[in-house]
Amino acid sequence: MKFFIDTANLAQIKEAQALGVLDGVTTNPSLMAKEGIKGQENILNHYKTICEIVDGDVSAEVIATDYENMVKEGEILAALHPQIVVKVPITKDGIKAIKYFTNKGIRTNCTLVFSVGQALLAAKAGASYVSPFVGRLDDIASDGIELVAQIVEMYGFYGYDTEVLAASIRSTQHIIQCAQAGADVITSPLEPILGLLKHPLTDSGLEKFLADYKKVNG
Ligand code: E4P
Repeated sequence: MKFFIDTANLAQIKEAQALGVLDGVTTNPSLMAKEGIKGQENILNHYKTICEIVDGDVSAEVIATDYENMVKEGEILAALHPQIVVKVPITKDGIKAIKYFTNKGIRTNCTLVFSVGQALLAAKAGASYVSPFVGRLDDIASDGIELVAQIVEMYGFYGYDTEVLAASIRSTQHIIQCAQAGADVITSPLEPILGLLKHPLTDSGLEKFLADYKKVNG
C-alpha cells in the first residue's frame, strides 16, 4: 500500500519524506488555504516546491467547476511538473474532463467520491486514482472503510487500473483498516502515519534492553 501525506505544509511533507516511506502528496483548496497560499502564481509555485521535496505523485486540484475551465486549469497544472496528478471532483463536467485528460495522457485523481457508482464512473473515464472520503462518511454515521472495501472489490471484478486512494483519513486505525480492505493508497495527515509506530510494549521493551546494556557496560 502506498502512503501519501494529505497536507500542503512543507515542514510536514519534509518530515514524512525523511521517514523514507512516503510515496506522494495530496492537497486540496482547503489545505492550501490553511497554509495561507493564495494567488495563482504562489499556488503554482507551491506545487512545484512540493514536487521538488517528494519523489512521488502530487495531486493538485482544479478550482473550476465547468468542463472548459477544468481542462484549461488541469493542463496548466499538469505542465508544471511530471509528478503532478490533476485532481478533479466527481461531477458531470468533472467526468468529461477526466476522460479528456485520460485521452491526453494526463494523470488524474477523481475526488469527493462517496459511492461505488461514482467510483465506477471514475474508472470508466480512466482516472488514475479514485478518492473515497473515509472520515467524512464516518462523520455522517456511514461506513467509510466499507466503501473502500466495496470499491476495491468492484474494481477487482473488472480489472480496472484505477488505484483506490483512501482519503479523509482521520486516525491510525483508519490506515490499518484501509490496508485490510485492500486500498492501493492512503492519504493521511502526518500524525496518524506516525501513530503506526506506537506500541507501549515497544517502549517498555526498549527501555529494558537499554537498562540491561547499561548494567553490564556502565
Ligand atoms: C483528499 O485528497 C482530501 O483532500 C482529504 O483527504 C480530505 O480530508 P478531510 O475530510 O479530513 O478534509
